[in-house]
Amino acid sequence: MAESRYTVHVNVAPAAYDVVIEPGLLRHLGGMFTKLTGSKKVGLVTDTNVARHHLAPALNSLNSEGIEVIPCVLPAGEEHKTLENVGKIYDKVLPAGIDRRTPLMALGGGVVGDMTGFAAATILRGVPFVQVPTTLLSSVDASVGGKTGIDHPVGKNLIGAFHQPMAVLIDPAVLLTLPERELISGLAECVKHDIIRDADHFAQLDTILTQALTRDLETLSALIAHNVTIKAKVVEADPFEKGERAHLNFGHTFGHAFEKVSEFGYSHGEGVGLGMVAASRLAEAMGLIDADSVQKIIGAIGAARLPVSGLKLDVQKCVAAMLYDKKVSGVKIRFVLPDRIGHVVIRDDVPPEAVAQAVASLRE
Ligand code: GLY
Repeated sequence: MAESRYTVHVNVAPAAYDVVIEPGLLRHLGGMFTKLTGSKKVGLVTDTNVARHHLAPALNSLNSEGIEVIPCVLPAGEEHKTLENVGKIYDKVLPAGIDRRTPLMALGGGVVGDMTGFAAATILRGVPFVQVPTTLLSSVDASVGGKTGIDHPVGKNLIGAFHQPMAVLIDPAVLLTLPERELISGLAECVKHDIIRDADHFAQLDTILTQALTRDLETLSALIAHNVTIKAKVVEADPFEKGERAHLNFGHTFGHAFEKVSEFGYSHGEGVGLGMVAASRLAEAMGLIDADSVQKIIGAIGAARLPVSGLKLDVQKCVAAMLYDKKVSGVKIRFVLPDRIGHVVIRDDVPPEAVAQAVASLRE
């Protein structure tokens, strides 16, 4: 067993599962899959980008265990997270004679994971699925917790289902070939988790982020394990987002608006990074948090090499875009705001002019 192997247990209904984090895991995927599922068949979903780097080792390993693989390679990119592409998964796996015990496997980032999970939730009214995330963003966030779905022209993730994976298998070595901007995008969620839940880890973030950006595998493995542990605890407490799971949306109401208004010129992580700056300034303006803590939050976001200023977007367009975010309740927008580092609150009584001011502060 590799020295840097971590296992995080996610204790959630209908069945608990493990998240295994181990550099080199992809080479042993077939053996792990057999042990986990006992199945001799799998629907393997990936995208054209991921296939270039990681499909061959995954296939080799699965084939060497005698597993029949039904491959489905989808086009890469958020714009392809559609019902049409979920239909392509149905079209590949249903004629191949799968049954209710045949798992789907998502080899890819959040888009592949969300679509594969949604297909798994709906095929034969539910088949198991295994997440094999290939980005930092999906390793620390989307692959854990069972949110699956697709986008609609009205907004992101508006169609979907909660369907927990039966396992999440993470090979941090895949991050060695991840484009820098995508690695940084994933770091936004890591900074977010510490701001909402862990002041002690936050205090060490500067050093950890510097090391992570050098792609030191031990640092990345430990960072993923830490973040999955936080995410698991939140999901265990509130699997269907009736309450505290919404804390994971810290920075996202602003961030989704920045992504949308920039027509995805900002990556998800960049939008969330700027969104966390705006939400923290908003919290300060409302007297919830002190200026020193806000400076520390902005410092950590900057240490992840995420933008913290220089927004070129129209402020009113950004505020209007927030009204269309799915986290709106009635006409009031709900904001997740820090009241100290390591702790957040949900508020729906935020003055609209304070929201606009927080967005405007990013232009400086
Ligand atoms: N990505 C937020 C959640 O899983 O709830």
